[in-house]
Amino acid sequence: MPKPSAMKRDHFSSGLGAFAATLGSAVGLGNIWKFPYLTGSNGGAAFVLTYLLSVALVGLPVLAAELLIGRRTRLNAVHAYGTVVKGQKTWALIGWAGMISALLIMAFYTDVAGWVFAYVFKAGAAALGGPGLGPDTFSALAGGTWEPLAWQAGVLVLASGIIAFGVSRGIERATKTLMPILLVLLVVCDIRALTLPGAFAGVDFLFRPDFGKISASVLLAALGLSFFKLSLGMGTMTTYGSYLPDTARIAPTAARVALADTLVSLLAGLAIFPAVFAFGGQPAGGPGLLFNTIPLIFSKMAGGPVFTTLFFILAAVATIGAMVSLLEVPVAWLVEKGKMRRPVAACLTGGAMYALGILATLSQGRVLGDVKVLGKNFFDLFDFASSNVLLPLGGIAIALVAGWLLARKDFEAELGKGYGKRPWHTAVLSAFLRFVTPVLVLAILLNGFGVLRL
Ligand code: PHE
Repeated sequence: MPKPSAMKRDHFSSGLGAFAATLGSAVGLGNIWKFPYLTGSNGGAAFVLTYLLSVALVGLPVLAAELLIGRRTRLNAVHAYGTVVKGQKTWALIGWAGMISALLIMAFYTDVAGWVFAYVFKAGAAALGGPGLGPDTFSALAGGTWEPLAWQAGVLVLASGIIAFGVSRGIERATKTLMPILLVLLVVCDIRALTLPGAFAGVDFLFRPDFGKISASVLLAALGLSFFKLSLGMGTMTTYGSYLPDTARIAPTAARVALADTLVSLLAGLAIFPAVFAFGGQPAGGPGLLFNTIPLIFSKMAGGPVFTTLFFILAAVATIGAMVSLLEVPVAWLVEKGKMRRPVAACLTGGAMYALGILATLSQGRVLGDVKVLGKNFFDLFDFASSNVLLPLGGIAIALVAGWLLARKDFEAELGKGYGKRPWHTAVLSAFLRFVTPVLVLAILLNGFGVLRL
């Protein structure tokens, strides 16, 4: 393999561009669709609290470790882990498992993203005087055959098209423009929801914890969400780290991304739950929460259809950076290993994801709705196997590699870039990666699977 320095690689053009792209990968359906529905069905504030702890104690250290390993090696995920510990090629497994996770996640992610894009048009049509969005709209869409498959194909073509343009022109430019639009739209929705009479019950639901609600499955769900949310445990952030300029400081970049991403989730929660409670809706609405409740709730307000359309435009915008980063893991490998051209690699990866995605999409309807593997349909199986199993396992391995196996001088050199002397957090991060993070993840996994009773 050529030395990293001998390879001409594309990269993010500046620290800000790298931050925007990394945040663009983190922010997505996880904030707007998954965080609210998991919060709603796992008891509200108690889940939010465990999630926040998981981001701080597990997510943040793993994010820093991934960016660090990525920039140290400047390679795709498979080669990064295969070379980062001298003489131990087996860690390339982290990258291979990551590719499987990327395929599994994209299979259901593009299904949900397809619903979101469909809702932009359906809500837009309603705002222009067409038929309104009723409770049947979602079940007809998600449970259909050709319609969801067509939307899914559409979003995959869009994401693969962006990826084909490359790192700084494609990923960075797209996310730099999209992120600010997203924030503005979210704040508009928040103001609308929070000024409703009775909105406070939703704020209460989000922030006043009932500790009795914390259980093994709530812990596992919160842990899984923190990996999914920050795009961790599968090499996405390692790949993005490999494009990080040397001027970017690893720890502050990771901290800012984790903080901003969490803020977006909370802003999404603050748009959804006050409205749910103000109109007497059901917080535990499951994966359909976003699609069933938002139009219903906004339809009872002045200017409702316009707000509904805005909300789904916002969600659609958020899916793009995340999908692009999921595609980038296999694409970077195909380009560097297979010497493939980016557009070809993007088409190939998109095609493989569509093949698996068809299974996820059809498992929501009549065609494959009855097929269960381990008691779950394909959609739920892909989601559970990635977020709650593969990503946490990847996280443990990454923490071990960065904390125990990586040469100390490499670890310190990467963390110290951009600083005059060794920054204070070097020892803290190292202690977390060695002891706190892997032990916590392992305990929650074993507890969640009933192997251990905490
Ligand atoms: N973080 C993205 C989201 O919240 C999903 C994602 C997971 C992206 C894993 C890349 C890798 O929507």
